[in-house]
Amino acid sequence: MNKAKRATFGSKMGVVLASAGSAVGLGNIWRFPYETGNNGGAAFILIYVACVIAMGMPVMISEFLIGRRARANVAGAYHRLAAGTPWHWVGLMGVLACFLILSYYSVVAGWTLEYIVEAVTNRFAGQTSAEFITSFDAFISNPWRPIIWLLLFLLATHLIIVKGVEKGIERSAKIMMPGLFVIILLLVVCSVMLPGAEAGVEFLLKPDFSKVTSGVFLSAMGQAFFSLSLGMGCLMTYASYFNKRVNLTKTAFSVGTIDTLVAILAGFIIFPAAFSVGIQPDQGPKLIFITLPNVFQQAFVGAPILSYVFAVLFYVLLAVASLTSTISMHEVITAYLHEEFKLTRRKAARIITGGAMVLGILCSLSWGLTSGFTVFGMNTFDLFDYVTAKIMLPMGALCVSVFAGWHLDRHIVRDELTNEGTLKHSFYRLFIFALKYLVPILIVAVFVNELGLFSF
Ligand code: PHE
Repeated sequence: MNKAKRATFGSKMGVVLASAGSAVGLGNIWRFPYETGNNGGAAFILIYVACVIAMGMPVMISEFLIGRRARANVAGAYHRLAAGTPWHWVGLMGVLACFLILSYYSVVAGWTLEYIVEAVTNRFAGQTSAEFITSFDAFISNPWRPIIWLLLFLLATHLIIVKGVEKGIERSAKIMMPGLFVIILLLVVCSVMLPGAEAGVEFLLKPDFSKVTSGVFLSAMGQAFFSLSLGMGCLMTYASYFNKRVNLTKTAFSVGTIDTLVAILAGFIIFPAAFSVGIQPDQGPKLIFITLPNVFQQAFVGAPILSYVFAVLFYVLLAVASLTSTISMHEVITAYLHEEFKLTRRKAARIITGGAMVLGILCSLSWGLTSGFTVFGMNTFDLFDYVTAKIMLPMGALCVSVFAGWHLDRHIVRDELTNEGTLKHSFYRLFIFALKYLVPILIVAVFVNELGLFSF
């Protein structure tokens, strides 16, 4: 691979927005609310935020520094920084995790496209909550429609990836991310003003620790890594396109703050709305698809045009936020095949898009045709989600932190954090302590707790 020719992001703003574009997505607006709903509300959010601060931030900074130093795809990065050791297996596990996530994530991203069409053709008008639930169930179990949307979504991802890093990834994120933020804020205001919304606000703000069972810790940790795009080398790959002037710590804090803010705001959209129309918070993956159409209907009873505009805008932006995330997963694997196997980017991208289409179809069918096929009580979709978010990402994060904390030369760590001595890094010791001890111990403790060998 020719170092000089490697692509880079054009600006600092582009760096933050592309990384935030990867982090902010269905994980925040779809997965975070339903995990919060399934795990009891405010107490889960507190544990989640603790995971972001104690584990997410150190791991994100590590992924940034490893990626920028190595200037290579995730497996190549370990080859360069730890040649002749088994560390590159960690990179390969990341590539595999990205591939699995890309496949089932695109199914949900496809659902957002269906909802754009529903919103544009004004089909939400006049439906009741019960009708929203039945029509969603009928849609996801249909053998064709979700698959067509899935294929279209993967195709859109593919087209941006083949355009490359600066023109494809950076430019799209710069346009899409600010728009998403504005619409989210407007929706929070609409949602909390609905009649009966207080119960939802209370659910988000009043922790009930009696609901904290052992699984809550694993869910919160998995959600933190998933939402921050950590543990599979996604931000490591993006960091390989950062230039030498990017302040890694500052960028990580910006991305972590934006991501957490968007997740919590999504909670403030979904739960007040759900409680207001009597929908239970533990509806799992269907939660946002059945509560939000209700919000749009009820928030502007006297002004149907506003209901219409908000519904269309929201689903467009949700699709866009998903797109900036699928692009980042796709990029991990594209960069890997392109650099390690010397395939052209176009060819690498084609292989990945094709493979994700096949696996995605399997996941999509598991909501209908093949729903009887389960492993440990989970359909294929849930299984992919469980294995990646709750096993592979925490394991990947554990390895990143051990690699940066114990294996990597301390000079490299310091050089990258301080941009070769030009920046101050007041948290240096704390950072090293977190990588060496705190993060690994916490991750192992959560696993051990989940296995029931020990209990928090
Ligand atoms: N962080 C993304 C989200 O919250 C999902 C993602 C996972 C992106 C893994 C890249 C890699 O939607």
